[in-house]
Amino acid sequence: MVKKNACVFISGTGSNLKNLILQSRNYNFPINIKIVISNNRNAFGLIYAKRNAIRYFLINTKNDKYIHQLTNTLIKEKIELICLAGFMKILPKKFFDLFRKKIINIHPSLLPKFKGLNTYKRVLENKEKKTGCTVHYVNKKLDSGNTICQKTFYVAPNDDEFSLKIKTQRLERVVFPEAIFKIYRYN
Ligand code: GAR
Repeated sequence: MVKKNACVFISGTGSNLKNLILQSRNYNFPINIKIVISNNRNAFGLIYAKRNAIRYFLINTKNDKYIHQLTNTLIKEKIELICLAGFMKILPKKFFDLFRKKIINIHPSLLPKFKGLNTYKRVLENKEKKTGCTVHYVNKKLDSGNTICQKTFYVAPNDDEFSLKIKTQRLERVVFPEAIFKIYRYN
């Protein structure tokens, strides 16, 4: 099987990156992670790129030139799938035109509910019975592209933000790989 070249964008801990690297070692997993992109030079997740000898690039989103350099890198590396995994910056709209249907994101809520930040706090404030996580295509509107995969769990009476995060991220380990399998099974 010829794997697709993928890159993963991160900003912080990188637990999804770690999981995707692990998954990509399986011969039947559809992608190979060729590069990692981070807007944060101190992102803990960069350690997983280093340990696995995956090249990483730092981007400075404050410098207007970054998007041009980033696009060139992704084209040069023949990247076919861009996975946003805890990437906490909004990319410019022209980026989406160039990589239409090739950018996916993981979000810690049952979209379309709770787009944006502070999802766990809002889930609790809203007294939601269920929550979960979603992998979706990225378009020009925040957290609004078509859903690829979603997983749900019941909120327990004693859940707090911390326990919701643990439970959600446990499900993220399952839903992100599943979404990637789904993309290539049906395309
Ligand atoms: C994940 O829970 C992901 O769903 C969330 O950031 C976390 C990153 O964790 N993403 C967003 O909130 C995007 N709006 P990780 O760095 O350990 O993968």
